[in-house]
Amino acid sequence: MKRITNSFIRPAFNHLGNKYRMVNKLLSYFPKEIDNFVDVFAGSGIVSAAFKSAKKYYLNDYNPGVYLILNYLWNTDAKQIINDIDKIIKKYKLEDSKSKDFKKNYKELRESYNKAKTNKDPRKLYTLVILGFNQQIRFNSTKGFNIPAGKQQWNDYQRNKTIAFVNAFKAKPKEIHNQDFEDFVDDILEKVDIDKTIFYFDPPYLLSNATYNDLWNKNSEKRLIELIKNINRKKGKVILSNVIESKGNINNELVNLLKVKNFNKIEVNNVSYSNSNYQRKKEHLDREVIIKNYE
Ligand SMILES: C[S@@+](CC[C@H](N)C(=O)[O-])C[C@H]1O[C@@H](n2cnc3c(N)ncnc32)[C@H](O)[C@@H]1O
Repeated sequence: MKRITNSFIRPAFNHLGNKYRMVNKLLSYFPKEIDNFVDVFAGSGIVSAAFKSAKKYYLNDYNPGVYLILNYLWNTDAKQIINDIDKIIKKYKLEDSKSKDFKKNYKELRESYNKAKTNKDPRKLYTLVILGFNQQIRFNSTKGFNIPAGKQQWNDYQRNKTIAFVNAFKAKPKEIHNQDFEDFVDDILEKVDIDKTIFYFDPPYLLSNATYNDLWNKNSEKRLIELIKNINRKKGKVILSNVIESKGNINNELVNLLKVKNFNKIEVNNVSYSNSNYQRKKEHLDREVIIKNYE
C-alpha cells in the first residue's frame, strides 16, 4: 500500500475525540488520487496533518479557540512558537504544574487572556490549552475561556510534539475557516471541482458526551445527514466517522443513511466484554463506524 501517513505526528493539543489513535486506519479508506481534502470538523487538525496526498487542504471548526490556535500554529515559525510559549510560561511562573502556586498563576494567565475583548492573543490561549484540564477548549456564554488548570507540563515532549505538528503543515497549501459546517460546505462546493474532492466529516457524536456537544442535537444531526446526501447527489465523495450504537441506543439517522444507495459501513471497534453478562455487554457496546459512499 502506498505510504500516505506519518505515524509520528501527534496533535499539538489533545482535542477531545481527536483521531490520532486511528488515523492510519482511517486514511487507508481515503481515495488515493485526490486534489482537495475538506476537513469539515477539523478539531486538532490531526487528520489533515497526517493525510499526505492532497494538493489543497480546507479545514473548518466552529470553535473560535480551535480556529485561533490552528491559525497561529500554521502562520508562525516553529522556533518562534517555542520561544513565545517559553516566555509566557516564565512570565506567569507556570513551569511546574505540581507547584503550590500553579493554579493561581494559571488563573492569572487566563484572566489576562480573557480581559482582551478584541485581538485575542493566540500564544496565551495555546499555553492555557496545553496546561489546562484535559487540554480542552471551552468558552462560557460571555466568550471567556473557562477550563481550569490541568496536570500537564510544557516540557520537551510537548515542545517536540508542537514542532512536528507545525512542520507537517508547513508546505501544505491550506485554508482554515471558522463557520458552521453547513455554510462552510456550501462555500466549498462553489469553489472546488467536486470530482477531485473528498469531504471528511467528524462531527460531535450524538450518542456520546463531549464539551463541544453542548450545541449538537438531533436537528444538527439531521442537517448534517441532509448535507451529506446532497453531496452524494452531486456525486461527491464523502467519508464520515461516528458512533452508530452506544449503551443500547441507536443513531437512527445513520441507520437510514446506510439505506441510501452507495453508502457502506466499516466497523472500527465493537467494544464488548466477553466475560460479562448480556446486560453489561449491552451497556458497554460502543459501535464506532466509518461510513463512506465510494468503493
Ligand atoms: C469529533 S471533534 C473533531 C475531531 C477531529 N477530527 C480531530 O481529529 O481532532 C468535532 C468537532 O466539531 C466541532 N463542531 C461542533 N459543532 C460544529 C458545527 N456546527 N460546525 C462546525 N464544527 C463544529 C467541534 O468544535 C469539534 O472540534
